[in-house]
Amino acid sequence: MLRPIPLLRRGFTTHSVKGFTGAVGSTPLIRLKGLSERTGCDILGKAEFQNPGGSVKDRAALGLVEHAERQGLLKPGGTVVEGTAGNTGIGLAHVCRAKGYKCVIYMPNTQSQEKIDLLRMLGADVRPVPAVAYENPKNYNHQAKEYAEATPNAIWTNQFDNTANAEFHFKTTGPEIWTQTGHKIDAFTCSTGTGGTLAGVARYLREVSNGKVKSYLADPPGSVLYSYITSGGKLTERSGSSITEGIGQGRITDNLGTEIKHLAGALQIPDEKSIKMVYEMLDTEGIYIGASSALNVVAAEELAKQLGPGKTIVTILCDGAYRYQSRLFSRQWLASKGLEKAIPEDLQKYIVLP
Ligand SMILES: Cc1ncc(COP(=O)(O)O)c(C=O)c1O
Repeated sequence: MLRPIPLLRRGFTTHSVKGFTGAVGSTPLIRLKGLSERTGCDILGKAEFQNPGGSVKDRAALGLVEHAERQGLLKPGGTVVEGTAGNTGIGLAHVCRAKGYKCVIYMPNTQSQEKIDLLRMLGADVRPVPAVAYENPKNYNHQAKEYAEATPNAIWTNQFDNTANAEFHFKTTGPEIWTQTGHKIDAFTCSTGTGGTLAGVARYLREVSNGKVKSYLADPPGSVLYSYITSGGKLTERSGSSITEGIGQGRITDNLGTEIKHLAGALQIPDEKSIKMVYEMLDTEGIYIGASSALNVVAAEELAKQLGPGKTIVTILCDGAYRYQSRLFSRQWLASKGLEKAIPEDLQKYIVLP
């Protein structure tokens, strides 16, 4: 006799969902066995790369657009504008196609042709503009805002400071993690770009557990947040840089602003550890993740060592390595960043590109 497949345990729903937007979220929570065995903790990764647009930013994109709809700011046939070179643009392009909006993306003209092409394939109107500092009015973010203001029935989603971003994680990612762990979770950690994921999830877990679940920021070099938190609120100058994309910040965004004071601490992860984890996750778990996700996993492991065995620690697997593979698996690129030696001998076989 055929035994029923335990669909719900595998993260599936038993009913169909409405289109692209209905497929955002409800991602599996994966136990990372190698790390869990090594630390004596349960280290769990929320598989956000399984969102239909391929990243955690599908949630922010949907949250921002639905918020504008609810506010009556975006009506049928309207235009969604954002300044982004990354996953938010991809998420917005998908959401806009699914909902029938135009999507206009401003980005610095230093971005790869691959990124521009992908957004255009997804139907977005891509406008590469000179790469100038934020203080300059011609910066891509300001141009996005101005264009939206000058266009009827258009919104600037403003992913960094529009708190509908964190709110969506508060309403979806946080509750999903709480349910999927059966309320057995001690700590949460992830890195931040806008801060939407960290702030939304951390606030939900803090409130629902009466402060028992502690959240920690994970930060790459070149971001000011680690020193801000560990110095008790002094913003310092940016120093260093990182190969990770989509994360690291020079300021406290509005999305992060309300939650940062509640964080239990911060971890700074060097690129050597993040890149090694990209390869290790592939080798021991069969999971193909980008560098920001790998940084999150390193942070979860370090947290496990700090907190001691028996704890459950959750982090975010933001996106897959597909969008970065020409760099992350290229010997020349790794050498140019001084990272070739960070890959252990037995994992060097994965460096398949020249
Ligand atoms: C690959 C990747 N990881 C992490 C993040 C950070 O997420 P958040 O903006 O919610 O802080 C982003 C944001 O763009 C991203 O693209």
